[in-house]
Parts: sequence; C-alpha cells; structure tokens
Amino acid sequence: MFIVVEGIDGCGKSTVASLLAAEIGKKRPVFHTFEPGHVRDGLYRQLIMENVDNPFVVAALFTIDRAEHVKKMIKPALAKGEWVVCERYADSTLAYQGYGMGLDKELINRMNEEAIDGLWPDKIFYLDIEPHLALARLQNKEKDALEGQGLEFLQRVREGYEEIARTRGYIYMDATLPPEIIVKRILEEVKLQ
Ligand code: TMP
Repeated sequence: MFIVVEGIDGCGKSTVASLLAAEIGKKRPVFHTFEPGHVRDGLYRQLIMENVDNPFVVAALFTIDRAEHVKKMIKPALAKGEWVVCERYADSTLAYQGYGMGLDKELINRMNEEAIDGLWPDKIFYLDIEPHLALARLQNKEKDALEGQGLEFLQRVREGYEEIARTRGYIYMDATLPPEIIVKRILEEVKLQ
C-alpha cells in the first residue's frame, strides 16, 4: 500500500504523516518518507533552494529527487511488503511549479511520468486548508525560500490542487481538524487490519 499525503505548506502534513506511520507501524512494517530531500541527505533540496527564481530548474530538480526516491527507496520498501507513507509526491510539482510558478504543465507531467516510472499511489490524502489559515500556522516557523512565497502563491497552488483533484481521486481531509481525528479517518479509508 502506497499512501501519499499532499497539501499546501502549513496544512499539517508532517504531523499527520508521522502519526499515521506510527499507527500503521503498530500493525505492520511501514516506511515513512518525504519529498524533497530524503534521498542523498537533501542534496537536491539544497540545489533547489539556490534556484528558486528559475521554475524549470526547480521542477527538474524536484523530479530528479523523485526519480531517485522512487527507485532507491519507495519501490524497494514496497517490494519488501512494507506500507509506504510519503509526504508529497508528483502532484506537488504540478501544483507548485505548474499552477504556482506558471511552468508548462505538460512538461511537468512528462517529467513526472519518467520520475515515477509507473508508480502511482494507491491513496492520496489531501489536507485541505484556507491559505491564510495555513500561513498563520507557519507564522512562527522559520521559512525556507520556497515556503516564504506568500498568500497569492499559496492560493494559486491550492487552486491547482483543486483542479488536479478532479482527475486524480483525492480523498479530502479537513486540515483544521485535530491530527488524531484526521489519522483515524485515514486509517478507516486504508482498512488497516
Ligand atoms: P516541505 O515543506 O514539505 O518539506 O516542502 C518544501 C517546499 O517544497 C514546500 O514549499 C513545497 C515545495 N515543493 C515544490 O514546490 N515542488 C515539489 O515538487 C515538492 C515535492 C515540494
């Protein structure tokens, strides 16, 4: 079972994914991972941060990070029978670089296809939140170059996710609910025995 958690910055993805992986881990082997930066100790993440003014370079680096992540970490974990919980995946690049930064979406789709090599998630949980609430949550957090792009950017990204959701079958979760409640609902959806 390959589970992805998506959403805009400040939606609470990491908290939910950590709790979810801990709950799954009580019943079966689980691999909790994230994009970008789990592969190569964040090498690509660092390169991305140095190029935030260049959407093509950023998208290319995110998809290279993904290609290695899929091949070296996610597929091997699934092959061992582990469940995988991944924070962000292909749709993050489409939503952020396509809808947020205005890069050609067809180009991103092609790069994503190469990167994921046929591995689509079994379930994508989308943590939905109003961008102004998400930004309020991030107020005291130190933001990196990508996270500091402001309200209008996050609004475009959210609209992007909403459009992607029409074709992708997202399972919507209200991100303003307590993380424990969200995780309980996710566990019901994935039918963990
Ligand atoms: P994180 O906060 O989830 O670690 O992600 C770092 C930032 O990178 C966040 O602002 C979302 C952004 N991002 C993209 O712009 N495109 C992508 O493909 C991915 C995976 C993340």
